[in-house]
Amino acid sequence: MSKYRIAWMPGDGVGNDVMEAAKIVLDHLKLDAEYIPCDIGWDFWCKEGNALPDRTVKALEGTTCGLFGAITSKPQDEAKEELIPELKGKGLVYFSPIVKLRQMFNLHTNMRPCKSYAGNPLNYRGNLITNPSGSDVAIDQMIFRENTEGSYGGVEFHPLPEAVYEALCANPKMKPWKAKGFENVALSTRIVSRQGCTSICTQAFEYAKKTGRKRVTLIEKPNVLRETGGLMTRCFREVAKSYPDIWADEANIDAICMWMFKNPQDYSVLVAENMFGDIVSDLCAGLIGGLGFAPSANLGDKYAVFEPTHGSAPKYAGQYKVNPIAMLLTARMMLDWLGEASSAARLEAAIATVIKEGKVRTYDIGGKATTLDVAREVARQLG
Ligand code: IPM
Ligand code: MG
Repeated sequence: MSKYRIAWMPGDGVGNDVMEAAKIVLDHLKLDAEYIPCDIGWDFWCKEGNALPDRTVKALEGTTCGLFGAITSKPQDEAKEELIPELKGKGLVYFSPIVKLRQMFNLHTNMRPCKSYAGNPLNYRGNLITNPSGSDVAIDQMIFRENTEGSYGGVEFHPLPEAVYEALCANPKMKPWKAKGFENVALSTRIVSRQGCTSICTQAFEYAKKTGRKRVTLIEKPNVLRETGGLMTRCFREVAKSYPDIWADEANIDAICMWMFKNPQDYSVLVAENMFGDIVSDLCAGLIGGLGFAPSANLGDKYAVFEPTHGSAPKYAGQYKVNPIAMLLTARMMLDWLGEASSAARLEAAIATVIKEGKVRTYDIGGKATTLDVAREVARQLG
């Protein structure tokens, strides 16, 4: 029997292309694992009305962790249009299977590293004032995104159920809304808990302590989102007290977008609730060459699902054109989580060498190599 059972979830679009790349590298590292293919994604929504079939959930329960490619998500109306005729009009509701997975398996913590590897032609070079030489700006950030709460809880209404509408209208601030009529009002909620906020902040500080990082920045908007943002900010300050050697600072989501673009090298560990973490992780990825370089890990207490931050890029599906580096760095995070520290370190070093040498590059960084060429080159570097 293999040491690990890994749920293999290519998902949609280019998910399959990049997972094949991961397989080349994992096989080369001789990871003692069995890979269990699992159905997930758009096709299963269209054909079965469920993007995360029950058999997949069951299969996942018998695995050590999951590796995930990419997912196609569409708004409700478009999703319903694409159901097979037999399933149309049955009141089926689309949900993103990756968001559901995060919630079902309580994968409360999303870690998203953004690191500028030397030789990446798309590394951020700064603006003329802060960086007149135009050389690479060294970026090494770790984003801690709360992964199950906030606006991702799926508590949304349109039209508003009358009871909800009436309850809300008891608040005098709802006066202008009342005149609009409940059928014309949509509501999405942002719900956070003290436990969720404290946990994500603690993990960010613990990580900073363990890795010798000196700054942890909270991303929020408590001046407007007074209750949810306020609770998160209070939890952050409370946790920070136990880490007197680490600079704990706070930024509003809008301001950090500007500061991150201007002085990204100043930031180290970032912590945010779900939606702000989602936004800022794409921004940070943009600074290190785009989503082709951004891995991520969805972590729970005992289970984890690893996925690159990028989407499914349907127009490139099956063309083996996209950059697999995000996926390979994701595999590296998985190896680390499994306790395969030396394989993880070797893999990162090999990826860094391939980027630095710049001989085998996909189209996004000006090359002509395929997804699998890059994986084979990484494998070659592994020796
Ligand atoms: C991400 C993605 C997902 C999210 C989508 C696909 C639902 O953008 O992992 O960052 O919003 O979390
Ligand atoms: Mg995102």
